[in-house]
This record gives sequence, C-alpha cells and structure tokens, in this order.
Amino acid sequence: MKSFTTDGDFAQNYRFLIGAVQPRPIAVVATKNEDGSNNLAPFSFFNGFSAKPFIIGFAPLIRTSTGQKKDTLINIEREKEFVVNFVTEANADQINLASTELAYGEDEFEYTNLTPVQSDLVKACRLKESPIHFECKLRDIVSYGDQPGAGTLITGEVLKIHADESILSDTGRILTSAYKPMGRGAGNDWYSISGILEKERLTKAQIQK
Ligand SMILES: Cc1cc2nc3c(=O)[nH]c(=O)nc-3n(C[C@H](O)[C@H](O)[C@H](O)COP(=O)(O)O)c2cc1C
Repeated sequence: MKSFTTDGDFAQNYRFLIGAVQPRPIAVVATKNEDGSNNLAPFSFFNGFSAKPFIIGFAPLIRTSTGQKKDTLINIEREKEFVVNFVTEANADQINLASTELAYGEDEFEYTNLTPVQSDLVKACRLKESPIHFECKLRDIVSYGDQPGAGTLITGEVLKIHADESILSDTGRILTSAYKPMGRGAGNDWYSISGILEKERLTKAQIQK
C-alpha cells in the first residue's frame, strides 16, 4: 500500500484527489466579465448540498500556470451571481474546449461556438446547448488559500431552474437516458452513460428481513 501525507507536492495531491473522487459531475459555469462579455468554464469539483434552499457548490483552484485566480471566481466576487449549465454527450467536446485558458475578457461562447441565451433573474447567460440551467445567486465564498492549487469553494442558491422537455418524463422527472450527462474521472478520463445500472434503495423493512 502506498501511503503519504499531503504536505508535499501539489501534483501528487491533485492526482490522488481527482483519481479517488470520481466519477465527478461537471458544472459549466457562465459569468459576466467586467465589460459585459460572457465567460464560460467547466468545474468538476462540483456538487449539490441542499434542496430547499436549493444550494450547489463548486471550486475553482488558483491557477498553477500563473498563480492567479480563475476568471470565473473574479467575476463571481464582483457580480455575486452565475449560471450552472451541464455537460452531455452532445456538447462535451465544446465544453472541453471552453476550459482553454483564454485572456480575461475573451468570450468562451464565441471561442467554442456555443450559444448564450438570456437568463430571467441574473445577468450571466444560460448555455443553449445544455438541457438544464440553474440561475444562481452567490451564497458563500470560502477560500483555502492563495497559493497555486488552492481551492475556493463557491456556493450558490439556485433561484430558477430550466429543463428541456426532451429530457423529462411525463411526471417531470429527469430521464438519465435522455439527458446523457457526462462526468469526469482521473487524468483526462470522462464518464458517459454507456450503460445504466439501477440500484434499488432498500427500505428499512427490506434490510431487516
Ligand atoms: C471537465 C473539466 C473539469 C474541470 N474542473 C475544474 C475544477 O473543478 N476546478 C478548477 O479550478 N479547474 C477545473 N477545470 C479547468 C478550468 O475549466 C480551466 O482552468 C478554465 O480555464 C477556467 O476558466 P476561467 O478562467 O474562465 O474561470 C476543469 C476542466 C475541465 C475540462
């Protein structure tokens, strides 16, 4: 068994963080730049934390290339709002491209040929090619430091949800097989739903049998 403490090299910590914590869902976060142009970037340090209030969170790390904050964090600190969009098999290549490190103010929607759509309650845009959109208001920013690789946890309250009817069942449930979400694994691995495994949640009575 390989064992180590986490006070050493960033790269080793990072490798084991993304290798162990998988599959990870991906938030495709849209924000407004200072000049009103759009910013878009994927984040797989992402999850949901509360249903009512409806709270999600994700974490941009300080860039290891420049030691600077990512554009998404800079924009959310200023605007206090954002939109979370989602990765599907159809948009994954363009979303991957949206993770390119562009200069601040360069619009990843234009760079990737993705389509911004006006939101209802926030200035940040929704992503047309995503079947689900969460319009979010900032709740918390918790910084874990300013050194390269340090994360900042951003949580947001989802004020409004949009879901394409093509991924919904008659009763309004999201159908995984229609949604075709993609997630992130170790290194450059991605997950798709090549098969769906149904796991029934056992009731207490069933467990006691
Ligand atoms: C699928 C995927 C997931 C990613 N997840 C994260 C993440 O959780 N945290 C992070 O700091 N960067 C993550 N990145 C890298 C960012 O997307 C990348 O640094 C991007 O340039 C940030 O854009 P911004 O400066 O416009 O905010 C991810 C990249 C990809 C392709």
